Amino acid sequence: MKGKILVTGGTGYIGSHTAVELQNAGYEVVIIDDLSNSTADSIDGIEKITGIRPVFEQLDCNDLEGLKKLFEKHKGIQGIIHFAASKAVGESVEKPLLYYRNNIVSLINLLELMPKYDVKGIVFSSSCTVYGEPDVNPIDETAPIKPAASPYGNTKQINEEIIQDYIRSGATIKSIILRYFNPIGAHPSTEIGELPNGVPQNLVPYITQTAIGVRKELSVFGDDYNTPDGSCIRDFINVVDLAKAHVIAIDRMLGNKSEDKVELFNLGTGNGVSVLELIRVFEKVADVKLNYKIVGRREGDIEKIWAEPTKANKVLGWTAKENIEDTMLSAWKWQLKLREKGIM
Ligand code: WQD
Repeated sequence: MKGKILVTGGTGYIGSHTAVELQNAGYEVVIIDDLSNSTADSIDGIEKITGIRPVFEQLDCNDLEGLKKLFEKHKGIQGIIHFAASKAVGESVEKPLLYYRNNIVSLINLLELMPKYDVKGIVFSSSCTVYGEPDVNPIDETAPIKPAASPYGNTKQINEEIIQDYIRSGATIKSIILRYFNPIGAHPSTEIGELPNGVPQNLVPYITQTAIGVRKELSVFGDDYNTPDGSCIRDFINVVDLAKAHVIAIDRMLGNKSEDKVELFNLGTGNGVSVLELIRVFEKVADVKLNYKIVGRREGDIEKIWAEPTKANKVLGWTAKENIEDTMLSAWKWQLKLREKGIM
């Protein structure tokens, strides 16, 4: 084994796909998750794909005593990938205190415990929302951090500052901060995919659940933006491509491949695609007519943002490989599998 990695939020969407890629790369995976936005079915899915059942403990990262017990029980954790967080832009506007407590206290707990248990480093799941509304797209890591457009984005900005201040204070740990754009799609095995608890906040699960009939119709939040078709533009990145970047980051951090104690990377395809364009792609690959209506804008939404991924391409040697058509088809195949299994 290459070493033991703690994956917080590991039964969730990106976490479960990353657990698969970590196991494929020879890492031992310990997953903790409070199951607030996922189920432990992901553990079965991971095992079906890799043949290795990851260790799983239901635990909230806000529970400091629970985390201490975890590190005591699972000795030798060398690195952490911290996904566990509330992550819906719209919901964060309605419930800011939930977002500030959950997303900030959880990180502080982990950082405080890392030196005590010789954990070398933490890969942090950040987001392009830290940039606010970009002045220019594509956007690279040198772009100014502007006031966040939502409490969710602000928690990610604050988290990045906490990591950098803690390391600057002399903490004996390293960190790689990964700023994701919009992860979509599902593992080609259809054993794991995006399945938030309750009504999806994110676009793609809402599209596939509408297409399969679980939701009546998709609401498109605004077509009066300053974009070619009026709908928001995003950089939609395949979740497996994204997961693979995390393994590269862990290899780099634990392998001491950089002198820098904190590194930052944008993880995107470099292509901007609008909400309405994505709907067209889905209709084509799934051969369905999607039922949607245009409604008012959602508070906290960024108008347009897509990545300049050159730094990750060159420094990490990572590039997003999957195209938008195959990625949307993978999301649809996942939805069809959920129907076949009677889950949704
Ligand atoms: C995308 C677009 C909506 C739902 C996401 C994650 C966040 C972070 C950044 C990782 C927007 C529109 C959506 C719907 C719609 N990722 N939309 N109808 O807000 O860009 O943020 O990526 O850290 O965690 O949430 O993603 O999928 O919610 O929205 O029209 O029912 O789709 O207005 O323009 P977002 P999203």
